[in-house]
Amino acid sequence: MNMRLMLCVILYALPLALFAAGGNLHSYRADVDVSDTKSLQQGARTFVNYCMGCHSAKFMRYNRMGADLGLSDEILKANFMFGTDKTSDLMTIAMSDEDAKQMFGGVAPPDLSVTARYRGADWLTTYFMTFYLDPARPMGVNNLAFKDVGMPHALMELQGAQRAVYKTATDTNGKAVNVIDHLELVAPGTQNQKEYEQTVRDLVNFMVYLGEPVRLKRQQIGIYVITFLFFLLGVVYLMKREYWKDIH
Ligand code: HEC
Repeated sequence: MNMRLMLCVILYALPLALFAAGGNLHSYRADVDVSDTKSLQQGARTFVNYCMGCHSAKFMRYNRMGADLGLSDEILKANFMFGTDKTSDLMTIAMSDEDAKQMFGGVAPPDLSVTARYRGADWLTTYFMTFYLDPARPMGVNNLAFKDVGMPHALMELQGAQRAVYKTATDTNGKAVNVIDHLELVAPGTQNQKEYEQTVRDLVNFMVYLGEPVRLKRQQIGIYVITFLFFLLGVVYLMKREYWKDIH
């Protein structure tokens, strides 16, 4: 084989090999768009209804979220606030860390303000998609993204219950092991697959916003800047025409 052909083959095969190594049947890709206000509102709603029983978001105030997401004080109070009626309050919860630890076998539910930043949106999406029944766990569930997680599947009523379907594979020592092949829905929830995927998308979108609220402002400023630059381009072009008209 000549050198060039060999190089081509290697370059062609390399991404395939990498993909095979990193390719995980069980990971999902997030579809984040923090300019999608409807999605953020929907995500916020899921968040306050299904998560704030246990988790706080203590770097966010209700009225800041309201202003960013286009929610009036009345709507905030009626649909998004349960522990307080002061919209200037931080999004804290009543449960103390100590109580929580007792309830959840030593781990307190962490504050979720910046979780999206260190876990990433793809990880979060995978996390909410891949809870499965596991009677050996205290909460009755396990998770493909977070092995032996101490959290119950908070959205099970929406998604339904999944169980793991196993297959036999060989590990690096050539030994046969049982690994999870895929998850299968065994009891439907109130949402179908598509609706649940949308719920998760909105929730993750909201958590990304929560982790970096200025991102919204930055995008807006970006649009102003680009518009201004286009305007400037027009002016500069006219000036150029003016300056050069005697020379041509
Ligand atoms: C019944 C209480 C409870 C509810 C409700 C709950 N969680 Fe949790 N959550 C926990 C506990 C406890 C942990 C810690 C689990 C561990 O470390 O094993 C946790 C962990 C997490 C983690 C992993 C954090 C990390 O990076 O280690 C995320 C993300 C999370 N929860 C998001 C949510 C979201 C979003 C909701 C709402 C849809 C929610 N949780 C509802 C109790 C709860």
